[in-house]
Amino acid sequence: MKKVFCLLILVLGISNVKADEGMWLPILLKSIEGDMQKNGLKLTAEDIYSVNKSSMKDAVVLFGGGCTGELISAEGLLLTNHHCGFGQIQSHSTVEKDLITEGYWAKDRKGELQNQGLSVTFIVRMEDVTQKVLSGIKDKLSETERAEKIKTNIFRISGELTKESYQKVVIRPFYNGNEFYAFVTETYNDVRLVGAPPQNIGNFGGDTDNWVWPRHNADFCMFRIYTDAEGKPAEYSENNIPYKSKYFFPISMKGVDEDDFTMVYGFPGRTQEYISSHAVDFTMNYEDPARIKIREARLGLMLEDMRKNDTVRIQYASKYAGVANGWKKWKGEIKGLKKTGALEKKQIYESEFKKRAALKGKNEGEVLIKLGEIYQKYIPLKNEEVYFTEVYNGIEHLGLANKAAQILDIKDLTSFKLEAARLIPGAEGFFKNYTASVDKKVMAAVLSIYTEDLKPSRLPKYLTDIKKQYNGNWAVYVDAYFTHSVFTDMARFREAMQNPDATALANDPAILLAQAMSDWYNIEVLPPVTKMVTSIDSLNRLYMTAQRTYMTEKKFYPDANSTLRVTYGRAEGFSPDDGVEYRAFTTLEGMFEKNMAQPENPDYVLNKRLSQIHLKKDYGKYAAKDGKIHTCFIASNHTSGGNSGSPVINGKGELIGINFDRCWEGTMSDINYDVSLCRNISTDIRFVLFVVDKIGEAGYLLEEMKLVK
Ligand code: ARG
Ligand code: GLU
Repeated sequence: MKKVFCLLILVLGISNVKADEGMWLPILLKSIEGDMQKNGLKLTAEDIYSVNKSSMKDAVVLFGGGCTGELISAEGLLLTNHHCGFGQIQSHSTVEKDLITEGYWAKDRKGELQNQGLSVTFIVRMEDVTQKVLSGIKDKLSETERAEKIKTNIFRISGELTKESYQKVVIRPFYNGNEFYAFVTETYNDVRLVGAPPQNIGNFGGDTDNWVWPRHNADFCMFRIYTDAEGKPAEYSENNIPYKSKYFFPISMKGVDEDDFTMVYGFPGRTQEYISSHAVDFTMNYEDPARIKIREARLGLMLEDMRKNDTVRIQYASKYAGVANGWKKWKGEIKGLKKTGALEKKQIYESEFKKRAALKGKNEGEVLIKLGEIYQKYIPLKNEEVYFTEVYNGIEHLGLANKAAQILDIKDLTSFKLEAARLIPGAEGFFKNYTASVDKKVMAAVLSIYTEDLKPSRLPKYLTDIKKQYNGNWAVYVDAYFTHSVFTDMARFREAMQNPDATALANDPAILLAQAMSDWYNIEVLPPVTKMVTSIDSLNRLYMTAQRTYMTEKKFYPDANSTLRVTYGRAEGFSPDDGVEYRAFTTLEGMFEKNMAQPENPDYVLNKRLSQIHLKKDYGKYAAKDGKIHTCFIASNHTSGGNSGSPVINGKGELIGINFDRCWEGTMSDINYDVSLCRNISTDIRFVLFVVDKIGEAGYLLEEMKLVK
């Protein structure tokens, strides 16, 4: 009996959450403070998050749209990943002055480069507002009524919370809409690029190594936040001054050893740890495979041209990395979900759940039955949605055509002309990173997959007609299309917008295609999907509460939702496959080994300066105890996308690394975290300093940091 019970606990994964699993809200750390201290934290919850004094949270920012950054000096110096600042690095690059290849270090504050559209956001404080948000919500409300009421409440509460005029309030749902927290935030828009290593260091290993351990790159770059003369958020101005940090991380020169406590503080984007088996089935067997297939086609074609032509390489560098990143992650996710038997585990968990609910005389088991019924109808539709999104986004110029289509309804000629002219500046930005021949090849490929994989009855008629007309030869179709459309060439586009002709535009093949595809999606796919999503959301809300009621052995942390979280674990290796062990650290040696093993691989090109330094072992104060430069390390911190750039902190609150990735074998942690397979990957902070000093010759920056021996 005891044996059976243990097995059940093992399979259900309902033992108390291991020290390593979980992404905790900083405001709730008190409840796990003891656990963290047992594992090596020498500080208190109050040191990590406090509203009464400056604390670590004052040094952690949401960087740009979806990364994390941390302050490392009293004067607003900010560390994040190279791949997080890559868009900015790229935007300052030309073939002549190529910051991607050469790297960049501002010689002084004047050399720090302005970045349009980049912002960082601090969390001033957070607060549980569940009671207030749910006040007046009765069980008998329909989902729409409930959502309306919540919206009104949130609007009211946002206005009531005390804040400064330059601050904002954001209220977010947690636990599938069962709880709500308010965040008072402060956003700064003058964030300048201070420096970045050359790509063959910052992104050494490139897409070959992405998501993979062992790793050897220094995935970092630096920015500085600027404020107005009063220290308040302000738009860019020459007169702005460096941000006065309320808190910044001291940096450990001792580094990190195997088994040391590690903590990651950042903004993980999205996890789904409590979904039903049906949702796991969808991700694993439909969503991921479809996305992988379409992206694979795009990537191969892009790369072909990037390798042939430097202009294309720079234009497509960031886009390619983005597309490749998801593609590889999903491949790892499928593998990990299968290997850990995620689907079967969920099914066993669900039958136990149903049993317990029934024992209590409750019918919450019904929730799962209903979810199953909805998913039966939802999965094929959702599959169409995934295909649509990947194909539509895969054809680069359709977004621009779609924007232009919106002005076609304007009847007044003067406004029509004005709006058309307004499209020109945006288009210039688009065409800067665009080569028509690449888009053309990709378009033929993705349309071919789209129209092969989905039944004709589930495709826009416009596309099935073209398929017939061209006998499925999409290359011929796109040839004609690309010679006619004004959306595939800047000169043609500018001319068309300067003398806009509504009839000609309406008949442009790009507008016809964009409209046919989005009409189909908006009419045939989106409405039923939305309806089902609403039902699923409401069932998931009930399921979440019921899980917390019946599965009491399990500790429930809220799923990631791009809010600030803390996760802790240890620096440790793991065994990804039978007979294989991964160590926790890498050193510079590995970079040279990789290059030797694959000298032709452009991702493994060695940095010359680094090679010379390595030859002379001129490591200065940055070597570890073993006399080597430690490059990266892995640890059992439960992280996700959005944790890129997050500070990795030791038990004393010192910075030991910067998080940038997860191990491929464990990317299923977003759905099924498993401590035996899931590791986050970080660059050792000493490697960062070594690169700033020895490669960037920007050692002066170290003077404003606090290095702890
Ligand atoms: N996999 C990491 C993340 O999800 C890094 C991506 C950027 N690096 C790259 N080689 N594409 O964002
Ligand atoms: N590279 C990811 C990011 O940009 C972090 C890796 C992960 O998904 O854990 O946020």
